[in-house]
Amino acid sequence: MFLWNGRLVQEDEIQVSYLDRGYYFGDGIYEVFRIYDGKLFEKQAHLNRLFQSLREVRITLPWSEAELSAMVDSLAETFGKKDGILYLQITRGAAKRSHLLPESAEPSMLGYCEEVVRPVEQLKKGINTITLDDERWHKCHIKSLNLLANTLARQEAADAGAEEAILVRDGRVTECTASNVMIVKKGVIITHPNGPLILDGITKQVVERLAKLSGIPYRNAGFTLEELMDADEVFVTSTTKEVMPVTMINGIKVGSGIPGVITQLLQHGFEQKFK
Ligand code: PDD
Repeated sequence: MFLWNGRLVQEDEIQVSYLDRGYYFGDGIYEVFRIYDGKLFEKQAHLNRLFQSLREVRITLPWSEAELSAMVDSLAETFGKKDGILYLQITRGAAKRSHLLPESAEPSMLGYCEEVVRPVEQLKKGINTITLDDERWHKCHIKSLNLLANTLARQEAADAGAEEAILVRDGRVTECTASNVMIVKKGVIITHPNGPLILDGITKQVVERLAKLSGIPYRNAGFTLEELMDADEVFVTSTTKEVMPVTMINGIKVGSGIPGVITQLLQHGFEQKFK
């Protein structure tokens, strides 16, 4: 089933107007919720970020947060007891093409669930990455549909045989094309501070809580490209990648080239959260 403008419908009932601003301007926002065994993981945190994104781009929904939350539940119920994602996107809606925001446009909302298995092998072995210039805009905290810079960078990584690109702005590491990135140096976890240069990842939030519970020092101090290359451990976090070890950057091994001890500890703690 699909969620389309507030109703659960079959795919053939979805009709997108050619005037939809999502199509012309990428004028909209989205969320990716994780479903483990049919249950939504960190649902409230995703809803909070969705409403934050909507406020930032000045889209007002005709539904309350409670109503949207109930719709998300109903959609997830149609998915069954599997592992997957719930994708939800909201555009500003249909209006004659103009750079000005339309005075009256009804937002379009599309949601669906899709089976996504956990990347178990990669979680054990780690992934290969490259570093690239962060060429995105300065409002990366909004989960905007405008992902051209992200998709081009992700493709560049794939062309180089890597699974993710670590982005660097003015010598400092921000995040990745679709995940946050953290390093471990001398037992301390370090990541970029929240703000307009990164997305405040829900998985990142879980990792911060796990680190605090386990007594592992955690700093939102940010780090440079040199510090990245010199880290003891590196991992990325996202709804679909979870706590994913990075074992190679630009063809150079991270530490001894195998997932680090703190990364594994966080992976274990993360699994306990949804099992
Ligand atoms: N991406 N940074 C960026 C740029 C992202 O696109 C994502 C998530 C994250 C991690 O956020 P979270 O832990 O809340 O998933 C960080 C999703 C999965 C996507 O676009 O498919």
